[in-house]
Amino acid sequence: MRSSVTGSVCALLLLLLLVWEPACLGDEVTSSTGTVVNPCCYLPCQHWSVCVQYGQDKYECDCTRTGYYGENCTIPEIWTRVRQFLKPNPDVAHYILTHFTWLWDIINNTFLRDVLMRLVLIVRSNLIPSPPTFNSKYSYLSWESYYNLSYYTRLLPPVPDDCPTPLGVKGKAGLPDPELLVEKLLKRRTFRPDPQGTNLMFAFFAQHFTHQFFKTYNRMGLGFTKALAHGVDAGHVYGDNLERQLKLRLHKDGKLKYQLIDGEVYPPTVNDAPVRMSYPPGVPPEHQMAIGQEVYGLLPGLGMYATLWLREHNRVCDILKAEHPTWDDEQLFQTARFIIIGETIKIVIEEYVQHLSGYRLQLKFDPTLLFNTNFQYGNRIALEFSQLYHWHPLMPDSFFINGDELLYPQFLFNSSVLTHYGVEKMVDAFSRQVAGQVGGGHNINAVVTRVAVGAIKESRQLRMQPFNEYRKRFNLTPYTSFRQFTDDEEIASVLEELYEDIDSLEFYPGLLLEKTRPNAIFGESMVEMGAPFSLKGLLGNPICSPEYWKPSTFGGKVGFDIVNSATLKKLVCQNTRTCPYVAFRIPREEQSQSGKSDSEIRTEEL
Ligand code: HEM
Ligand SMILES: *[C@@H]1O[C@H](CO)[C@@H](O)[C@H](O)[C@H]1NC(C)=O
Ligand SMILES: *[C@@H]1O[C@H](CO)[C@@H](O)[C@H](O)[C@H]1NC(C)=O
Ligand SMILES: *[C@@H]1O[C@H](CO)[C@@H](O)[C@H](O)[C@H]1NC(C)=O
Ligand SMILES: *[C@@H]1O[C@H](CO)[C@@H](O)[C@H](O)[C@H]1NC(C)=O
Repeated sequence: MRSSVTGSVCALLLLLLLVWEPACLGDEVTSSTGTVVNPCCYLPCQHWSVCVQYGQDKYECDCTRTGYYGENCTIPEIWTRVRQFLKPNPDVAHYILTHFTWLWDIINNTFLRDVLMRLVLIVRSNLIPSPPTFNSKYSYLSWESYYNLSYYTRLLPPVPDDCPTPLGVKGKAGLPDPELLVEKLLKRRTFRPDPQGTNLMFAFFAQHFTHQFFKTYNRMGLGFTKALAHGVDAGHVYGDNLERQLKLRLHKDGKLKYQLIDGEVYPPTVNDAPVRMSYPPGVPPEHQMAIGQEVYGLLPGLGMYATLWLREHNRVCDILKAEHPTWDDEQLFQTARFIIIGETIKIVIEEYVQHLSGYRLQLKFDPTLLFNTNFQYGNRIALEFSQLYHWHPLMPDSFFINGDELLYPQFLFNSSVLTHYGVEKMVDAFSRQVAGQVGGGHNINAVVTRVAVGAIKESRQLRMQPFNEYRKRFNLTPYTSFRQFTDDEEIASVLEELYEDIDSLEFYPGLLLEKTRPNAIFGESMVEMGAPFSLKGLLGNPICSPEYWKPSTFGGKVGFDIVNSATLKKLVCQNTRTCPYVAFRIPREEQSQSGKSDSEIRTEEL
């Protein structure tokens, strides 16, 4: 197909492009004050090229395989020009993917769905280096950085620590006070609901799902993680180490320990499964639930998902045992764990990412799409991914469950909320309550603003590169002014006052304050930077590789079918007595007041 497109038309095109080629000027880097500045502080090397310092004042950009050449790797090679010319603008691609329902109704039912899904996976994951590269200690490639799994990886190396300003050479010598930044720009004034109709069922799924691989381990040092599997390992269900796992297991039929409250299955207490859980002092052990992830006592929404996955694991064990009466506890456990991981990835791609993206293309979890490509299996969680995922604006001002309004003091660390209402009522309530819009600023509840302050402080200590450098890393054009970056005049002028230069705007504030796409939860950057990390992590899982992705890995056809037909609704309704309203968005009626009856919506959604 490509060769026919790039026929005679391209020959003409190339001629034109070649005429426009800019001249290559060999400049030396010296500072205005005469003191010698590490030339890599200018972040001179473009297009993923590598800055190498030689002596005090010399540098070289290694342009190998970037498709560019010249001192700073800024001059495109011929094929790079062609590719640039043919590449659609991300906002245009996004517009097409989120509009033209009639077109997608056709595509969804043809081979084009597979073709486009494969394209999405390849284009996105090509932005993530694999094997991983830098980390917070190593701004150059090193064996230690590759091998030591305790570090988060980093897409862009840290800003050198001998630079004139915190972000290299741009901006003021001192960055704005993080508390002030959060107070003025991120803290909520009045709750702004997400225009995509995202609900709390989604918000708690996001938090529950991601905290299996975001487990920042500051006791080891900044930029470290406790989650050594670096991906979807269901460590939030089974614990992040073998010792913890063994304490959580029943050691019979592959199952996990549990307790019965009013005849319903819940995670066991820490008396029965003696693992450390993070609770404030004074919560007695009989009120602490033992869960794989040690912080999941924090929120009833996390406890709710922990309960659902526990029930699902034990349900799958029963099915496997019926299929394989000879299997021992260990094989039943291990196989059930693979099924849980598979179900998770299925739900995340086909429902969670589908919802977030707003795409009319029906996304598909099908690892075979990548079998004849050069996709690399494996994954390493990046610091940037963890920073980016601080979606605290999702959280509402209070929680409405079964006609009660719960304020934060009644909700946080209160283990009786879950057992008092039960899973069904919680699912129903969370599925009906709208979450906050993540992008656009001014939408973080005061209870969690300090988490945003912490994220900004962390990014400074770890010397993360500016937002615009990340824009470039993800093939997005850097912003040239604060007014281009946001339509909100107040945000633009505060940012201008605090940062002066758009090139010194920081990563996390950039993601949260960028203008959102029309009627969307995020701006362009959150999607274009988040999706690559996300899809690489999901498809890079070993179960997606050719040796693993087959029925026998999942206990045969029955187990494989469970993975391939998993849905959020089944996760809930196969593990509860009655089936509540369950979705990642609020019922359409409650969003648009379209006048449809509730039961109509239920049948539509379910
Ligand atoms: C009321 C609800 C929430 C509370 C009270 C809360 C609180 C916290 C706290 C205390 C931290 C640790 C901050 C630090 O150590 O500096 C944290 C980290 C984090 N939170 Fe939340 N959070 C909430 C909801 C959410 C939600 C809905 C998400 C959505 C994805 C989220 C994503 C994250 C992420 C990605 C981290 C970093 C984790 C890590 O690197 O270990 N949080 N949160
Ligand atoms: C390369 O980058 C440096 C630092 O930003 C700049 O001074 C120099 O002019 C650039 N060279 C070219 C050829 O653009
Ligand atoms: C195509 O997928 C989109 C997104 O899931 C959906 O809204 C639409 O109804 C689908 N169309 C068909 C025919 O499946
Ligand atoms: C990883 O690096 C940290 C910091 O240098 C060190 O404490 C830890 O022991 C290393 N881990 C391994 C497995 O070598
Ligand atoms: C915890 O939740 C239960 C059930 O909603 C409620 O009755 C109780 O008052 C809450 N505890 C606190 C300390 O708010």
